[in-house]
Amino acid sequence: MLDKLNEIEKSALESLDAIRDQAALEAWRVANVGRSSPLMQVFAELGKLSKEERPAVGAAANRVKAKLEAALTERAEAVKAAALAKSLEEEQLDVTLPGRGIHLGRLHPSTQQLRRVLDILAEMGFQVYTSREVETDDVNFQLLNFPPDHPARDMQDTFFIEAEGRGDNPILLRTHTSPGQIHAMRDAVRAATDPDNPPPIRVALPGMCFRYEQITARSEIQFNQVEGLVVGENITFADLKGTLSDFARRMFGQNVRTRFRADYFPFTEPSAEMDVECFVCGGKGCSVCKNSGWLEILGSGMVHPIVLQNGGYDPRRYSGYAWGMGPERQLMLRYKIDDIRYFWGNDLRFLEQF
Ligand code: DAH
Repeated sequence: MLDKLNEIEKSALESLDAIRDQAALEAWRVANVGRSSPLMQVFAELGKLSKEERPAVGAAANRVKAKLEAALTERAEAVKAAALAKSLEEEQLDVTLPGRGIHLGRLHPSTQQLRRVLDILAEMGFQVYTSREVETDDVNFQLLNFPPDHPARDMQDTFFIEAEGRGDNPILLRTHTSPGQIHAMRDAVRAATDPDNPPPIRVALPGMCFRYEQITARSEIQFNQVEGLVVGENITFADLKGTLSDFARRMFGQNVRTRFRADYFPFTEPSAEMDVECFVCGGKGCSVCKNSGWLEILGSGMVHPIVLQNGGYDPRRYSGYAWGMGPERQLMLRYKIDDIRYFWGNDLRFLEQF
């Protein structure tokens, strides 16, 4: 029995010497000190030995077991150290190499400008009201005081979606955000506890508009607008001028000058366009303002009594003003962008500049 133990010890230590990796080490452990190894067999058979033999064999078996376990631990450490040395050598990292750039997404310049506009209007007490892009002819035109054959419709060529069987009221893509005025007023009337006393309104209506136009450097088939609508008692043209001049100062700088020029829109009376002093040349005249010193930035006016009525507001008691402006146009002026097609051209060289 003692000879057998010596033999077990000798061959186990020999085979351990040759081991170089983790898997072989584990196999060695199972074969030499595992539950069904010859060594454990000796322990199992101790009971069969005579009283005289048992203590010596037991002690020897314990000694061999301790020895093999110690040798295993030592070998495991050596294998680990060798593996580390090998990976340090083979998998060298060049920490001086530049890292891979992370491509950050960003907001589209129009979205950025829309947010600037809405942030300023929010500070001035305007709530955002969004309405649909697909409209009916009556809301996009008729209720805004454009009769079916009104010549002012020529200003806005239209994408019609469905005309069949709809008579004078085809479905179309909205050509401006102004139909939102009708929705905003009617919603307020519907929500009022007393429809004869609807609440005052102060909303900003942002969104995409569509026109069936030749795409050129100056015109696109889609663009954003931000409409404004204020309705209440005793609203005057002075409120319109004050609010829009304040907006211009907040958007383009405290010292910017503004002017209003008479204009025509079917849904406002009187109507006016607002110019800001050219912020590129400071009013001296340059290519951006075509040497006029002024840049037109919006159309506006006092809400036409017919439009108020169509919205459910009694024009004898209520008045209001409205405007429509274009964030893309503001960006073109500000950054001297000379071609509106860049906005939807998806050219990253353009978009990444914002
Ligand atoms: N809807 C007009 C357009 O797209 C812009 C406009 C002008 C809106 C005057 C208004 C306004 O609310 O009062 O050309």
